[in-house]
Amino acid sequence: MTASVAGNFAKTKVKSLFQSDEDAAAAKEAANRESGNRIAKTLGELKGAVMKVGQMASIAQDVLPKELSDALGKLQREAPPMDFEVIREQIERELGAAPEVLFAEFDPEPFAAASIGQVHRARTDDGRDVVVKVQYPGVEDAVDSDLLQLKIALRASGIVDIGREALNASFKEVRARLHEELDYTNEASNVRLFRGHHLGRHDFMVLPEVIGERSAKRVLTLSYEPGDSITKIEALGYTQAQRDELGRNLFKMMASQIFEFGIIHADPNPGNFAVRPDGKIVLYDFGCVKWLEPEIIQAYKDVVEFGLVEDYPGVDDALMRLGARRPNTRAPDFSFYKRWRDTFADPFVDVAIFDYGRSTVHDEVVKLIPASVKHVSSFQPATELIFLDRTVVGHYGNMRILESRVPTYTFLRRYLDGFDGSFSARPDLKPGEA
Ligand SMILES: Nc1ncnc2c1ncn2[C@@H]1O[C@H](COP(=O)(O)OP(=O)(O)O)[C@@H](O)[C@H]1O
Ligand SMILES: [Mg+2]
Repeated sequence: MTASVAGNFAKTKVKSLFQSDEDAAAAKEAANRESGNRIAKTLGELKGAVMKVGQMASIAQDVLPKELSDALGKLQREAPPMDFEVIREQIERELGAAPEVLFAEFDPEPFAAASIGQVHRARTDDGRDVVVKVQYPGVEDAVDSDLLQLKIALRASGIVDIGREALNASFKEVRARLHEELDYTNEASNVRLFRGHHLGRHDFMVLPEVIGERSAKRVLTLSYEPGDSITKIEALGYTQAQRDELGRNLFKMMASQIFEFGIIHADPNPGNFAVRPDGKIVLYDFGCVKWLEPEIIQAYKDVVEFGLVEDYPGVDDALMRLGARRPNTRAPDFSFYKRWRDTFADPFVDVAIFDYGRSTVHDEVVKLIPASVKHVSSFQPATELIFLDRTVVGHYGNMRILESRVPTYTFLRRYLDGFDGSFSARPDLKPGEA
């Protein structure tokens, strides 16, 4: 959707370059600015869970017009903390007793803010350091109406150049994840699920433990697992060697989830994990988890493999299986695929070690957009890729913040070769059973 909006704006810009009638071009630009403002206003009014939709779009801030990117920037800011009385009541309602009764110590000052709740430090009767995530009351009520409002605004503005069905499918997927996110018992199962995958397999991973008897639908108590935010490692004086180690581990974490586990932690914002000087990665926030389809990952792998050897009919077929190519439309000429292929593949394949701190891939992508606009009608947003792309793009950004140097292609090769059409470490469960 973000791409579509960006593409549409780019299209207007390109058009106005060639338009002899400058007044018409100016009018069109003004209309677009107006639409941008309207969407921005709608996004600004969204609260709680749906705010995350705006945050998701903000990963593409570089390519969006200023009105929109400004509005998205505002969504990053955290909500002001709630009165402790509200938190206490929510805990009583959910766990049947006041925090003072349930915990040996409970800090009334929030330790961290979240978009739909806040986190408090506490200590259990048996002396364990824990965090208690408490969801704000009433968050659930606004989700569907907020989402609908956003959908109507997007459609009315005309700046989203995708069909009604594709837009509906995208919203359905986002809505499903948001509803899961509101249920902390679901998040608790996810924590256990991911512990089962990473612990014993990846000695660099740290995941909190669920304190089940102090958790419910809107309260989640977890062991306290400290770490440093990647936005602070500069000030904390992390060395290049430490940054490299963290980047390698972050890459392995993500690739293992995609190609071996088939279930991904799909909320890669820098607040949702922390790092330690010894290379450990602490993963938080298992509210947004996406179960991948093996056929989708096979097609995803095929795009990469065919792209690497420049087999563009193969790329086109794999994109079709991903749901990204609109059926019954003409394939773009292969020089179009080649430009994107070179942008994505060259930096990783040509060097033994890729330096994320110096990556220009995101700038190159922005440059490709204007020329790609004429092919937009051959593509559609692929529902099954929304959360996968969000994760990959998000971690690319994290690696840039880390300024890590990672043997990306060697690593990727290992995971691609290891995937044979099914997930080797997929648990014998279905979503919701975890
Ligand atoms: N087990 C934990 N130990 C230490 N800090 C945590 C833990 N779990 C969460 N946090 C902190 O609390 C913040 C909010 O928790 P999170 O689960 O991300 O909430 P939300 O799902 O609302 O984003 C995190 O960004 C992290 O800083
Ligand atoms: Mg979070």
